[in-house]
Amino acid sequence: MPVLENRAAIVTGASRGIGKAIAAAFAREGAAVVICGRKLDTLQQAASEIAGTVLPVACHVGRKEDIQRLVEITNREFGKVDILVNNAATNIAQEPVLQVDETKFDKMVEINLKSAFRLIQAVAPGMCERGSGSIINIVSISGLRPQYQGMLYSMTKAALIMMTKSYAQELGPKGIRVNAIAPGLIQTALSEYYWNDSARLEHTLEKQPIRHLGQPEEIAEMALLLAGEGASYITGQTMVVDGGRMNPIDFL
Ligand SMILES: NC(=O)c1ccc[n+]([C@@H]2O[C@H](COP(=O)([O-])OP(=O)(O)OC[C@H]3O[C@@H](n4cnc5c(N)ncnc54)[C@H](OP(=O)(O)O)[C@@H]3O)[C@@H](O)[C@H]2O)c1
Repeated sequence: MPVLENRAAIVTGASRGIGKAIAAAFAREGAAVVICGRKLDTLQQAASEIAGTVLPVACHVGRKEDIQRLVEITNREFGKVDILVNNAATNIAQEPVLQVDETKFDKMVEINLKSAFRLIQAVAPGMCERGSGSIINIVSISGLRPQYQGMLYSMTKAALIMMTKSYAQELGPKGIRVNAIAPGLIQTALSEYYWNDSARLEHTLEKQPIRHLGQPEEIAEMALLLAGEGASYITGQTMVVDGGRMNPIDFL
């Protein structure tokens, strides 16, 4: 039997990259999946490339009214939300700390952090009523140690890790598991700078125990595990999926 049969899921930021791979894995395992992003045409294209039940809904996760609409549509179409994946994020402030301004600070918090809070607040009451649910926040190894010239990105991901633990503690007794996945370098549009130059990539992979460039599907497999009953005893955790990058080969 498919492991997510009869489940309804929301995956944010799923028109490409990691979110799209997660949506495809969930749909493959029987879930009805609502995918969101800002642009309906790219979402429709993504949905057409995924086998299974996939509903594209345009939603800017930084906007409260868009989030309400996303949850309303999911409830109307599929009757519930069993699985929520907070995946959409941005990195608009890749610069020295002293150049970071307040506008970027607020925007990064709004999109990378507050969106997850708003979505969890919107779907968790229904999960509590049914006594089950799985929430997965996509963070980053940059939330475990600072990304050079990426303070806002690291800061929002670190805060999301703590949000994950806090929700896990309070919602666990109600049957809801809340976990995070911290990817290392994965080949997507977001991380293009780090892999599109072969010399830079080679330098990055030199110290990584698993030598290949991570693929979105390798994150999706972890999301699938956390979404299903195979992870029934796991909550509050941050699963690092990074090819060993946080445990580098270092000959001193
Ligand atoms: N790639 C990596 O190496 C890496 C490493 C660690 C963590 N991560 C994390 O993994 C997650 C996915 O990243 P990715 O690499 O797959 O990125 P990506 O390829 O750039 O995809 C981002 C997705 O999010 C959507 N999105 C962006 N801003 C949005 C907004 N305001 N509202 C709704 N949707 C929005 C995009 O669609 P639209 O542009 O159409 O809105 C797109 O579907 C992020 O949380 C990221 O921080 C990635």
